[in-house]
Amino acid sequence: MESAPHLVLVGPMGAGKSSIGRRLAHACGLPFVDLDREIETRAGTDIPTIFAHEGEAGFRRREREALADLLEGAPCVLATGGGAVLDPDNRARMRRQGFVVYLRIDVDAQLARLAHDRSSRPLIAGDDRETVLRRLAAERGPLYEAVADLTFPPTDPGPVEAASRLAAMLADRWLRTVAPAPASESP
Ligand code: S3P
Repeated sequence: MESAPHLVLVGPMGAGKSSIGRRLAHACGLPFVDLDREIETRAGTDIPTIFAHEGEAGFRRREREALADLLEGAPCVLATGGGAVLDPDNRARMRRQGFVVYLRIDVDAQLARLAHDRSSRPLIAGDDRETVLRRLAAERGPLYEAVADLTFPPTDPGPVEAASRLAAMLADRWLRTVAPAPASESP
C-alpha cells in the first residue's frame, strides 16, 4: 500500500473501537478521533437527538460528511460508528485513505458489553436488541470483511492488552507506511 495515513477502526457496536483506538493512538503518537463524538460536536447535540429529529438518514448524512472531512485531514486513529460501512462511498474513502482494521465481536459478547447502555445507541434502544444485533451482524458482517485490510479476532483481554496486540500486528504493516524512517547512522 503506497500511503495509508489514517488507521480506521470498523466493527459492530460494542467491539471496542473507541477504547482500543484511544490506546492505540497513544501508543502510535497519533491523535485519536471518535467519529460519533465528532458528529455530535458538529451538530451541537447527541446522537439520540439527531436520530429523533432527522431519522437515521439525517444521521448517515452527517456521518458521511464528517468521515470525508476527517479522512482528508491530518493522520489519526479514527474509530467509526458501527454503521459507517453501509455507505459505498464511505467504504471507498476508508480504503483509499486509510488502513482499515475490523474489530470482530459476536452477538453474545455484544449483548454482554452493551448491557448497561440503554440510551446512547438508538438502533438498540428497543426491547429486542438481540434480534436487532443479529440482523445487523448478518447485513454488515460482509461489509466489514470487504473493507478491512486486517481483521482483529474476537478476544476478551480488555482494551489495554487488545491495543498492544493490535499495535504489534500493525507494526509491519500500517505503521511502516506512516512512521518516519529511523535516522540512518551512516552519512
Ligand atoms: C451505530 C453505531 C453507533 C452510532 C450510531 C449508529 C450503528 O456507534 O454510530 O448509534 O449503526 O451501528 P458505535 O458502533 O460506536 O456504538
